[in-house]
Amino acid sequence: MKPRVAVLCSGRGSNMQALVRAARAAADYPAEIVLVLSDKADAPALGIAREMGLRAEAVPAKPFGKDRAAHERALDARLIEERIDIVCLAGYMRLLTPYLVGRWAGRMLNIHPSLLPKFPGLDTHARALAASEARHGCTVHLVTEGMDEGPILGQAEVPVLPGDTEETLSARVLEQEHRLYPAMLAQLAQKISLPGPASPS
Ligand code: GRF
Repeated sequence: MKPRVAVLCSGRGSNMQALVRAARAAADYPAEIVLVLSDKADAPALGIAREMGLRAEAVPAKPFGKDRAAHERALDARLIEERIDIVCLAGYMRLLTPYLVGRWAGRMLNIHPSLLPKFPGLDTHARALAASEARHGCTVHLVTEGMDEGPILGQAEVPVLPGDTEETLSARVLEQEHRLYPAMLAQLAQKISLPGPASPS
């Protein structure tokens, strides 16, 4: 049985799409993407996922106000109902609390558009340009409590070219994100024990 994967997104969903395409392209890809969740009902990622024939749902954060862990319990309940084994964050724009991170320890991945530990947080491409970096890229890591801090599973590098803008640089990095993320998910999926977590008692 292949591990069942959920992808959490807040926005355009191109990494989610890359993961789904890779998983479907090869019969021996070692994981199956079965669920897309978003904290935003209007996330373009949801429509794209549905067009690809996936179950895609919003679990809006707003009704939970400041109670982030309560929102996470609602997300977690859906993950458990769908018997998810691995969670991929792909442009999921909320900081997680220790609750969800702990529930999915070793089973939750994130992709970040920089060569961590350089440039955690936002605006990574502008910051790489401002720092006159010669190389930039992306990182897939396990999610831990610190933002963009978990153990690194893999990185892909690109050159920063003369005349690069945030747009040209981010496009070059994004192309690598779409290759790196499916490869790193496959690697983790081969190692993980099944089944994933059960409902919290
Ligand atoms: C990507 O650059 C990813 O690295 C970052 O947010 C962006 C999401 O893009 N975490 P998309 O929604 O996957 O197109």
